[in-house]
Amino acid sequence: MSSRLLRRSLPSYLARASYSTNSNSSFKTAVETAEKLVSPTSSSKFQDPFSIVSHEMSNLAKSIANLIGSGHPTLNRVSSYYFEAEGKNVRPLIVLILSKALLKIPRLERQRIPIDEYDVTQQAHIKGTPQYGQESIAGNSVDDSLSPLRILHGINPKIILDPLSKPMDQLPEIDKLNGILPKQRRLAEIVEMIHTASLLHDDVIDLSDSRRGRPSGNVAFTNKMAVLAGDFLLGRASVAIARLRNPEVIELLSTTIANLVEGEFMQLKNTVMSSKEELNMINNDGELKRVPEPTGKVPTKQHEYSVSPASTTTVSSSHSSSSSSSSSSVEGDVVDHDISVQAAFEYYLHKTYLKTASLMSKSCRAAAVLSGAQDDIIENCYQFGRNLGLCFQIVDDMLDYTSSDATFGKPSQADLKLGLATAPILFAWKKEPQLGELIARKFNQPGDVEIARDAVQKYKGLEQTREMATKYCMSALENLRQLPESDARSALELLTNSVLTRTK
Ligand code: FPP
Ligand code: MG
Repeated sequence: MSSRLLRRSLPSYLARASYSTNSNSSFKTAVETAEKLVSPTSSSKFQDPFSIVSHEMSNLAKSIANLIGSGHPTLNRVSSYYFEAEGKNVRPLIVLILSKALLKIPRLERQRIPIDEYDVTQQAHIKGTPQYGQESIAGNSVDDSLSPLRILHGINPKIILDPLSKPMDQLPEIDKLNGILPKQRRLAEIVEMIHTASLLHDDVIDLSDSRRGRPSGNVAFTNKMAVLAGDFLLGRASVAIARLRNPEVIELLSTTIANLVEGEFMQLKNTVMSSKEELNMINNDGELKRVPEPTGKVPTKQHEYSVSPASTTTVSSSHSSSSSSSSSSVEGDVVDHDISVQAAFEYYLHKTYLKTASLMSKSCRAAAVLSGAQDDIIENCYQFGRNLGLCFQIVDDMLDYTSSDATFGKPSQADLKLGLATAPILFAWKKEPQLGELIARKFNQPGDVEIARDAVQKYKGLEQTREMATKYCMSALENLRQLPESDARSALELLTNSVLTRTK
């Protein structure tokens, strides 16, 4: 593979590990440095670790383009917009390299499910307008439909207009030497589609104006189109998920979609720090609205998330403000400040899992399921993705304090302005209880953001956040050590370390 191509498809934060785009010697230095960083037990020879999946990575955007084509030109423009720009692609990269690492497990030890090594579609693929009445359903290929095409295409032969939904184009021939299963490769594409859908929605929610160094989808198009394009990507991702023909994987990936939304809701409402009154209010673009009372006709379930009793007792912002000691006043009762902080950290980590680590952990688990590996390996891969995902988001929250918009490629220093209490400010709050008031009112008073930033600096919030991320990084490396040694495993170790040292 061309190393230039490889570096383009690599997450750009790997540049931090000295992946120079124009110097072979610095590339070599980077690899040597990375070798020192990774497990000392790893004896496999490092060559060019990411060349392992360079073919798949360089085809990623093209393959995804085949999955998201529609007959509507503007929908095509919006839904492909984020794939055009150079993203980190870290999620598909992890799935692909992990799939490769799992190959090292002897075939005899990977018999949990029958494995489809080859991907031969028996379904006639039609370029352009599908034929009305086409009945074909066949095979086990990731490209084969489960329902008759005439149903899926929904073509009315009397309508001459291009249908909005066209059949997916056939994938290019698989690289049989590579060994990554077609379903694992499709999994990598699906994961990036789900992630991209969530970004289109997230930028609307966060009122963001840039992403990947360009105007964000909501700015370049409109809020409405960005939301619809995200929905469309999810729809097409769901079709591709079904065609993996594995109920366990369908369950895992569908759950990640629900988890992303749950995580985003947890972020919208900082429950631990809200009063009972506030819990029944929602912010509608600056205007507080009351949440409609449930009619009782549809029983609603509580979120499974449970925290220590202190956090279920809601904290009144007006009370907590008056306390300058190490305890906060909660609706008449005194709650130990440390318990409140601990509950806030639990809430933060749970939100972080749902928002970021769920997709990584469950896609790693799905890659292992598709590999045919046994239960203990599947669980270990899940834990790896979970630890890496938590590390990734905690670092992201730290970079939000330190990066500039230019290096980040998206708005930086945004979290406090959005009212978000992430790890750095929670560490500062631990030391300075009065910050609870600012957190509860989402830093919405003049000067709050500056006070919070100063406190983060004073109490070494960023250093402690890095330590927290490091622990998850170390756990992820420990998970990797349970896999057989291979270049792919070493590449994952390098990538895991790079997540911790990235600058964007
Ligand atoms: C980025 O977070 C956003 C996410 C990781 C998930 C967002 C999820 C939703 C909007 C729920 C809807 C989900 C789907 C699948 C449509 P960030 O704002 O911290 O990061 P950023 O700085 O990159 O914006
Ligand atoms: Mg955002």
